Amino acid sequence: MSFAPEHQPQLEILPTIDAVADRAADLIAQAIAAPDAVLGVATGRTPLPIYARLRQRAANGMGTAHLRAFALDEYCGVAPDHQASYRGFLEREFFGPIGLPADRWQVPDGLTVDATAETSRYETAIRAAGGIGLQLLGVGRNGHIGFNEPGSAFDSLTRAVDLTEDTREANAGDFPPGEVTARQALTMGIGTILRAKRLLMVVTGPAKARVLAAMLEGPVTAAVPATAIRLHPDAIVLVDSEAAAQLTRARA
Ligand code: F6R
Repeated sequence: MSFAPEHQPQLEILPTIDAVADRAADLIAQAIAAPDAVLGVATGRTPLPIYARLRQRAANGMGTAHLRAFALDEYCGVAPDHQASYRGFLEREFFGPIGLPADRWQVPDGLTVDATAETSRYETAIRAAGGIGLQLLGVGRNGHIGFNEPGSAFDSLTRAVDLTEDTREANAGDFPPGEVTARQALTMGIGTILRAKRLLMVVTGPAKARVLAAMLEGPVTAAVPATAIRLHPDAIVLVDSEAAAQLTRARA
């Protein structure tokens, strides 16, 4: 299968995780400054230092009253007050501290009994908000974006997905020791993500070096969902030197 046209994401290799977080926070703050800002947000370990900086900026006066935001994903069967909940994560790390009212941000409802209705409601809500302006992304070590696991179609929309064993193992730390980790999640699709006006992907640490090289230098393929960002005309990839270690092509 081939996908066209292909674009070259804007790659910035920065020396440290802190430098990556500073740059990402600058770009997100710029996006938030727009009067109709709609932000797509990620969870996980990678964005934590970015949210810390944005909390600081909000404490120093960055206006967020007009912001609307949508989360990429949520585990199925996990209540908002469970420690693994992405709703809980975002409320704690970002939306609560910046004072964003609950009616300005959304996370797919992982407790829904009708995933089809909930995921189609979510797509409609994103569209009704005018679409996502800037979408923040991390990447799983297996190449997933959101919870679009390998094999996900590039035109997929928000839906329920099965998590791979690799992802369940990588994210086991989200859950209390001994608890069976979520087997399914609701996630924006790759097609949903590609509709955002701009993508901001952040990749840090040595454990992501292999997937970053595959994402930027391997073939564009559903086997590595993150390669889909090369189909987007305005994608920025911020990486630290450890994540960049396996890139082989000369960079300008
Ligand atoms: C999180 C998400 C995932 C993570 C990815 C990397 O909302 O959609 O794709 O971005 O699993 O997670 P970390 O940053 O914990 O390595």
